[in-house]
Amino acid sequence: SVSHCLILLLSAAISSAEEQVDIKRSDFPHGFLFGAATSAYQIEGAVLEDGRSFSNWDVFCRIQGSIADGKNGDIAEDHYHRYMEDIEIMHSLGLTAYRFSISWSRVLPRGRLGGVNQAGITFYNSIIDNLLLRGIQPFVTIFHNEYPQEFEDRFGGWLSPVMQEEFVHFAETCFKHFSDRVKYWMTINEPNLFAEMAYERATFPPARCSPPFGHCASGNSDVEPLIAVHNLLLAHAKAAKLYREQYKSKVNGVISITVCAFMYTPLRDVEDDREAANRALAFNVAWALDPLVFGDYPPEMRSYHGSELPSFSPEERELLRDSIDFIGINHYGTLYAKDCIHSSCICNDSSCSQGSDRPIRGFVYTTGECNGVTIGERTGMSRFFVVPRGMEDIVHYMKERYHNKPMFVTENGYSSPGSEDDIYQHDVKRIHYHQSYLAQAVRNGADVRGYFIWSLMDNFEWSSGYGTRFGIYRIDPQTLNRIPKLSATWYRDFLSNSILAG
Ligand code: NOJ
Repeated sequence: SVSHCLILLLSAAISSAEEQVDIKRSDFPHGFLFGAATSAYQIEGAVLEDGRSFSNWDVFCRIQGSIADGKNGDIAEDHYHRYMEDIEIMHSLGLTAYRFSISWSRVLPRGRLGGVNQAGITFYNSIIDNLLLRGIQPFVTIFHNEYPQEFEDRFGGWLSPVMQEEFVHFAETCFKHFSDRVKYWMTINEPNLFAEMAYERATFPPARCSPPFGHCASGNSDVEPLIAVHNLLLAHAKAAKLYREQYKSKVNGVISITVCAFMYTPLRDVEDDREAANRALAFNVAWALDPLVFGDYPPEMRSYHGSELPSFSPEERELLRDSIDFIGINHYGTLYAKDCIHSSCICNDSSCSQGSDRPIRGFVYTTGECNGVTIGERTGMSRFFVVPRGMEDIVHYMKERYHNKPMFVTENGYSSPGSEDDIYQHDVKRIHYHQSYLAQAVRNGADVRGYFIWSLMDNFEWSSGYGTRFGIYRIDPQTLNRIPKLSATWYRDFLSNSILAG
């Protein structure tokens, strides 16, 4: 029958994928955590239930043209009502960790102007307790792109230092209620990408940008991303200090951020492009991490930006230095870097994908495809090209620059190009993606301690809407039923086989 044929084809495809990369759980250090990741707005839904306030994303989604499919997170994957089922799914897969975020609007609907919303606390308490009951370590992200809209209206969100104080209040609320059980904290998800999307590319609220970034006339893309990151980093450092002084000892927990960490490789084998690739890493990754380890921005950025880059006072530098216990790496792909200080920033071949034109941060031009050369296979995200070797390279970069601080791969994932109606075909690629990236995650003595698949389930991919799907579970759009993809079965088998093996 047709289905029989399909199964045969599928198993042939899977075994050929498996043949290419042979990894076993026992290849990883003892105690290495294997998880999956999500974030509140992307899965919870229930946006106006139980006292939650309207967030920046609720508002943004309602502005026509913001979201590719015109949809929003009102219902999302209905995780708010189905979280027990989702935790059972995690348990059935054999996950030993789960990374999720706390919705600011659900816990503190009005920030410092109002009280704590008990329903929100109850919800996250139940998630945490049920994870722990099943031996799954909760990894909690405090801020993952979403905050009460009124912060934007009242004082301008992350462009204002007031937001630092709002954040510390939110973080403290989370520590007070959850730090007796949660050991792994990430204050802020991807400050570097968040600032780029919200203040340079206008694809996240408050959707600010300025020429040459296309359509947009509000904002000042030269400096606003720099100011936003400045506030985000100081907010982290203040929260981390508070955590270490008052809450850490409860379960001897650790605290950090996650950083969006693309790898960059020279487009041409010339010195100018090699320098451009190094600059790209400094202007993207080290922008967020150098201050949290060394107390200041990367020298590469200071020499380029001069006084445009905000400065930290001596007290702030002290506060920032060593304010992370590990590095959370969100890694998806590798991009080309092309120098455009000495040559044109415009890729003069029409086949070149306009990956990321970054005249603002160091005259770096990046793309995954140029002059007929492609770095790796395309995925459903325009900047995400499949280059497994990039995992080893980015981990190595972190290891060298930050003296082998402990690391977690807090996100790594594959979204299918085009529609995923043909989920089977694409999901074989997802399996292969995870196998080959995982195989590169712990090399050359790098202190990587865990790996999280983005994502447990298909979800609301921000301005791309629901059409871009990273999940190892599919969600039926009508029933919202959770349906395991082949990659879920692969992950489960990978995790359980190796327990048997020893
Ligand atoms: C980064 C973000 O943390 C997450 O929210 C997003 O869905 C994935 N990467 C995929 O783009």
